[in-house]
Amino acid sequence: MKKLLSYLWPQTSKISSEHSGTLEVTWYNGKKLLDTQNANYSYGLLQKVLEFGLSKVSLAHANSVLVLGLGGGSVVHSLRNKLNYDKQIDAVEWDEKIITIAKNEFEIFNSDKLKIYHEDALEFVKNCISTYDLIVVDLFIDTEVPEQFLTTDFCEKLLQLSTGSILFNLGIHLLEDHPAHHVTSFFKHHPEAHLTVLDHVQGKNTLLLIKKGHS
Ligand SMILES: C[S@@+](CC[C@H](N)C(=O)[O-])C[C@H]1O[C@@H](n2cnc3c(N)ncnc32)[C@H](O)[C@@H]1O
Repeated sequence: MKKLLSYLWPQTSKISSEHSGTLEVTWYNGKKLLDTQNANYSYGLLQKVLEFGLSKVSLAHANSVLVLGLGGGSVVHSLRNKLNYDKQIDAVEWDEKIITIAKNEFEIFNSDKLKIYHEDALEFVKNCISTYDLIVVDLFIDTEVPEQFLTTDFCEKLLQLSTGSILFNLGIHLLEDHPAHHVTSFFKHHPEAHLTVLDHVQGKNTLLLIKKGHS
């Protein structure tokens, strides 16, 4: 019913979260989205942004993907249903309310080939001993990437965990002096990283595509 009514006007349920503020699950024109107060988290513009980034990555020989920032799981949906990636995905999300929304509203739950870790992504990467062919970094609180994910330590750890590509969603409408540019500079100058900067994706996001390998 909500789906049908959503063609007339949006149908929104609000959930309050300690980590993320007010979350909104909205049916809009027959499609369900997850939003925060000021940003789309999943299945809207954000999914298109990540799909553009993923279109530049070869998944043909990828056997393992790590998603940091599960949200409602739209990138999992894209990998499975649009890119036909059927191997292992590990996904990390610190907000229990969001994990519940992913499960109940978007049918994203633990299975043989999808392991969801309810954990802070910083702790996860510090303790992780696995490596991944693709790492998707999509860590936001509302419109901002938390500053601990813009540090040299975090970038170095990402490179250690990578055996292929890293897709890093760096932010929205970044001004010249934004600390996120530190991440760009780190990968630009690192001898083991080949960096492509994808700017103005869907008019506003900056994505970094990093391929690991010696130059
Ligand atoms: C834009 S959403 C991710 C959307 C998701 N990648 C998708 O495709 O639907 C950003 C997510 O990062 C999560 N996040 C923010 N800080 C985090 C942290 N320290 N550890 C783990 N997850 C975090 C948020 O709770 C939110 O779910």
